[in-house]
Amino acid sequence: MKENLLTSLESLQTELQTVLKSVDDPQNLQETRVLFLGKKGKLTQILKGLGKLDPKDRPEVGAKANEIKQSLEEKLTEAEQRVQAQVYEKQIAQDTFDITLPGRPVTRGHIHPLTQIYDLTSSIFEKMGFQTHTGPEIEDDYHNFEALNIPVDHPARDLQDTFYLPGLKWLLRTHTSTVQIHVMEQNQPPIRMIAPGVVYRADSDVTHTPMFHQIEGLWIDEKTTFADLKGVLTLFIQQIFDEETQVRFRPSYFPFTEPSAELDISCVFCKSLKKDCVICKGTGWLEILGCGMVDPAVFKSVGYDAEKYTGFAFGIGLERLAMLKFGINDLRLFFENDHRFLSQF
Ligand code: PHE
Repeated sequence: MKENLLTSLESLQTELQTVLKSVDDPQNLQETRVLFLGKKGKLTQILKGLGKLDPKDRPEVGAKANEIKQSLEEKLTEAEQRVQAQVYEKQIAQDTFDITLPGRPVTRGHIHPLTQIYDLTSSIFEKMGFQTHTGPEIEDDYHNFEALNIPVDHPARDLQDTFYLPGLKWLLRTHTSTVQIHVMEQNQPPIRMIAPGVVYRADSDVTHTPMFHQIEGLWIDEKTTFADLKGVLTLFIQQIFDEETQVRFRPSYFPFTEPSAELDISCVFCKSLKKDCVICKGTGWLEILGCGMVDPAVFKSVGYDAEKYTGFAFGIGLERLAMLKFGINDLRLFFENDHRFLSQF
């Protein structure tokens, strides 16, 4: 009886070895493990005979059983490692890649044309001593309108289609002129500042997007005149375009400047007057920015002495400037982020 058990145990080893030789995938291996070591497996089956043994023989057979169990475990683990390695090798062999294929080029990023024109603009004004300021995009009615001499029932409010926030106290700023007020509230003259930023108006077509960029300018000192305004802006235009570019100041209206003007430049596309120029529509001139002498009413709202100080302000539409500088005909191209467009600049 005892001898029988011992031989059966011994033979489990050779049996397992033979089975393992033909096992070559993890699934099969798992089944083999269950077959030999599982709850109803071969080892358990043999050990059932243990109860019928003479009690004095039990320790010897028990010890042998443990020894065999351990040896089976080791063989299975070894086989598992072998099978896993085979699985990896197969995978690697299948996942070959063709090292002779050309690589995918990494394209270099570009500075967005709007950023380029902004960088250029601010560097020109910086050289003239202007400091850069910024202000909030969500504004109150006071900074966007009231303080700029646009009272609640003033018809000039209709000039700009405003996005109001619920409750009508707050709005998305319609122009960067708001920053004029913030800077004057916090500083005393002399002031030379530019304020770049995003502004919002409720319109959208080929020449208008609900969000666009402006650069505001403000220069305040004693005895500042319209001649200073003309000098600064003419110099700016000639540096952005070229020295041949002509400027003209056309009377206009803004509630916060008096007198106000629209600055036109000679058409940068047809150079002189050409009847069929689609850009200047045959006029020879392009409208480029709004400007004027700061209205005394604005000084009053920030507590400046309008008898002592004078100044000028201007507002440049950045998209428009970039369109003219780079010859772009659709405003929306700036915001679609199409690589084919952006990579041209
Ligand atoms: N804020 C004006 C606009 O958005 C532009 C402007 C700025 C005009 C400063 C005069 C002076 O249309």
